[in-house]
Amino acid sequence: MIITLHTLCGVFYTKSAMESYNILIEHLAAACDVAIFTGAGISAESGIATFRDPDGLWSKFNPTELASMKGFLRNPDRVWQWYNYRRAIIADAQPNAGHYALADFEKYIPNCTVITQNVDRLHQRAGTKNILELHGNIIENHCVICNSPYIQDIDIQSKELPFCSNCGGNIRPSVVWFGENLPDGIYEKAEYSAGHCDVFFSIGTSVEVYPAAYLPFTAKNRGAFCVEINPTSTSFTPYANIAIQEKSGDCLPRIVELLQQYLKREYNAE
Ligand code: APR
Repeated sequence: MIITLHTLCGVFYTKSAMESYNILIEHLAAACDVAIFTGAGISAESGIATFRDPDGLWSKFNPTELASMKGFLRNPDRVWQWYNYRRAIIADAQPNAGHYALADFEKYIPNCTVITQNVDRLHQRAGTKNILELHGNIIENHCVICNSPYIQDIDIQSKELPFCSNCGGNIRPSVVWFGENLPDGIYEKAEYSAGHCDVFFSIGTSVEVYPAAYLPFTAKNRGAFCVEINPTSTSFTPYANIAIQEKSGDCLPRIVELLQQYLKREYNAE
């Protein structure tokens, strides 16, 4: 059953859209476990470019050269400077209403897990506690030879590539590059969460990069009520119980507001 929601002039919803929100809120209010899978789209309203939108990073930069070990070994300075360019954008960015709304989910849902592909740590800055970072993060760094964490502060204005004090190797960002394994155990935890949740959200992701892209289908196959929030359709849209074709920063606060009202009405909860 696909109910695609469209906002009419921003705040007025079609009747079917309100009915669909009510169906979603009833599932959420009854849920013990909720898994929330996020991608670059949830940070778009914070001014951080996505990867595959028409104006996304991969329309301007070559991922093979900048997000792979091969590219790093071929030109470590260029890769290091590109990540400093992204770090500067992220340092200036603030979590948006979508990030804060997901942090609020943790107040109303017993077991809520955010599984993010993002490396910007905006979920954490918005207050989300229970989070799985599938693709590492752009804040931390480590040695490309001995893997020692590089704990010194990074000067994002500097073009100088730092070296490991332990073995002299190049320092690299602790993000997962194409062709690399995800951090030990993280995918297994994410897969368990997706496979045991009552409600699964897929938010702001093109569902194109594996193994992360298996997670929505794992949730669907295990019987979760699946909600996609994305202005454009993806390969998962036909499988979602509800597809909300809006920006996450617009609809997530609305979902939290409706959930608060429902819980107050039903359980006199604050
Ligand atoms: N709200 C919700 N969704 C949005 C918004 C928004 N405001 N703006 C854009 N989107 C959607 C786009 O329609 C697109 O489907 O977010 C999605 C972003 O897709 P990608 O750019 O492919 O990002 P993502 O799915 O996170 O990429 C996965 O690919 O390059 C690797 O490691 C990188 O983690 C990344 C992975």
